[in-house]
Amino acid sequence: MIGRLNHVGIAVPSIEAAKATYRDLYDVAASAMTETRELPAQGVRFAFVNVGNSQIELIEPLGAESPIQRFIERNPNGGQHHVCFEVEEIYAARDAMVAKGATVLNEPRIGAHGTPVIFIHPKNSNGVLIELMETPKAAHS
Ligand code: CO
Repeated sequence: MIGRLNHVGIAVPSIEAAKATYRDLYDVAASAMTETRELPAQGVRFAFVNVGNSQIELIEPLGAESPIQRFIERNPNGGQHHVCFEVEEIYAARDAMVAKGATVLNEPRIGAHGTPVIFIHPKNSNGVLIELMETPKAAHS
C-alpha cells in the first residue's frame, strides 16, 4: 500500500518564474524553496517548494531529448504532471504493480530526492501519472 504523499510534480517552462509565482502570489518564503538542480540522466531541472504538509516539485525540460518537452509543448504555461507517493521498498512495489497488470514505465532509478523511483502509466490511475518513490531512510528531505 502506498504511503504518504511526498510531492506533486508541476512541469513548467521556467522554474525561476514558477518560484516567483509561489513567492509573490502565495507568500512562500525563499528559504522554503530549494536551489534549482539538474538531473541530466532524466532530462530535467528541478526544485522543491516546501509547504506545510508536502512539497511541490517544479520540473523544467533540460535538453531537446527531455521527456517533459512534449508536455510543455502541449501545455505551454505548464501544468500538473505527476503525483508522488512513498513506498517502503521500490523493487517490491515494482513487482506488485507488474503482478497487478499495471504498466511500469521505467526500471527503478534514482530520483530527485536521491532514492529510487518508478512511474506508473496514467491509463492505470484515472489519467494521472503516478510516481512511486522509496521513502528516504533518514529524515524526509
Ligand atoms: Co517527482
